[in-house]
Amino acid sequence: MHTFVTHRRIPAHKPPRTSNTCAEKILSLLLVTASVALGFACVAALMQTFQQSISVKSLPIRLQAKAAEEIMHGTAVTTTSATGGLSEPSADEIARLRKAARLLDPELMEQVPDKFDSEIKNPCWSASSGEFRCLPYFYITGMFHAGAVSLAEKLRQHPDVLWDVCSGCQFWGEEGKSMAFYLDNMKEASKFIKQSPEKKVLFDGSPSTFAFYWAAAGKAHRAYAEAMKPCYQSCVELLNVQKVPVATCMTEKCYNASLAADAKRAVEAGIDWDTEAHNPLLMRGVYGDRPPKMILVARDPIARLYSAFHGYPHYHNKYGKSSAGFTAYVEDQVGAFRACAKDYGEARCALYFEALGHREEVVYFHADQLMRGMYGLFLEIWYRFIPASNWMVINSEDLFQRPKETMAKVVDFLGLTKVDDDALARMANAGRMSSFTNGQEPIQPKARQMLTELYAPYNTKLAKLTGDVRFEKWNEQPQN
Ligand SMILES: *[C@@H]1O[C@H](CO)[C@@H](O)[C@H](O)[C@H]1NC(C)=O
Repeated sequence: MHTFVTHRRIPAHKPPRTSNTCAEKILSLLLVTASVALGFACVAALMQTFQQSISVKSLPIRLQAKAAEEIMHGTAVTTTSATGGLSEPSADEIARLRKAARLLDPELMEQVPDKFDSEIKNPCWSASSGEFRCLPYFYITGMFHAGAVSLAEKLRQHPDVLWDVCSGCQFWGEEGKSMAFYLDNMKEASKFIKQSPEKKVLFDGSPSTFAFYWAAAGKAHRAYAEAMKPCYQSCVELLNVQKVPVATCMTEKCYNASLAADAKRAVEAGIDWDTEAHNPLLMRGVYGDRPPKMILVARDPIARLYSAFHGYPHYHNKYGKSSAGFTAYVEDQVGAFRACAKDYGEARCALYFEALGHREEVVYFHADQLMRGMYGLFLEIWYRFIPASNWMVINSEDLFQRPKETMAKVVDFLGLTKVDDDALARMANAGRMSSFTNGQEPIQPKARQMLTELYAPYNTKLAKLTGDVRFEKWNEQPQN
């Protein structure tokens, strides 16, 4: 299911998307109990996505190429914020973020109140309709192929922890889902919270929440889609009338203008396009002065990528189900990412890849899987909005080698009721992870080398941000 409108522009030569593939959908949906309810939710989500994609208002934003150039080159790329991650934003700062979020995604903010009910541990409120509404108290933000799904299974064993249909519905990572839909699909859990307001908490364990690369970032970039849609249409018309290839027309007219429209929206919202116009700002806007607790399960990005390669049949079909196939895949994807980075810089390529131009748009799966392993890049931006004290970054080795000890820490971090040893053991044993790489050939040295070089700066950043030096050990790969 493709969710971001811009990805449906050129159906004829579009590769299927990596994000939100059926396999991932099924994986994440396993989190949720009633399969009948799920079937319905999935259909409802599909319909909603479809309806939204055809009803997006076409704002004819026409920016001169020159103005576009100025915005895109004039914005100094600030890579670090002075206070980023160290402290809670002030009340003024939160007000600024909420105002910006209202402009970037109005529907998202219309549904949520200024304040949650302070008597309730979980963020909840009574809507004007009289309905009792709740948002997740915590997120297991990712990653796929790292143990996030297993962690969710373990946490479900805890008596305080609730889940609902949207605990796995990829709300933040999928632009087509409205906040109204999200809230509607957490109604059942909300009833239990109302009965036990001092204890019960709801979670969202959708593994696509963490890495907001382009396909998962639609909520924050509506202005791009609004500008791109009519521009693409005009290119299709030009093909029919003057036989100008759509790609040529789009390169001349659409990509830069859509990016400029997106950058302009950020200026109007009073935020920095590069460092702030992202999903984490929207999430913080929604939660205001009560940010959620966040968990990331991080696994060596190379092992994670190899597992993803073997987890989705479409990679086998294109590159072959072998270690040599993986090397070919890595050469393709890293090559495309490097070419992009040469022109635009790594951060912009990681966050905007296929939005940048035709060369990137035709790259197989838009190098999404590659970007998912750049944890440090995403976490640095998350920390600007939801500070480090609200995060627990779990090394997946700890989850699998010391599950009981790790679960005790998670229970503590989340502020859940302490449980006895038996209950901890039950949690530890639940949700065993199955590996897609068991029995596969080892990664070839060439692929390992290319990936080690690619991921090293992000591993280092992750180690710095979290203070866990073991993440830097991922830079020392075995020489096989
Ligand atoms: C689009 O922007 C890029 C860099 O931002 C620039 O190199 C390119 O020439 C622009 N393309 C057009 C058609 O203006």
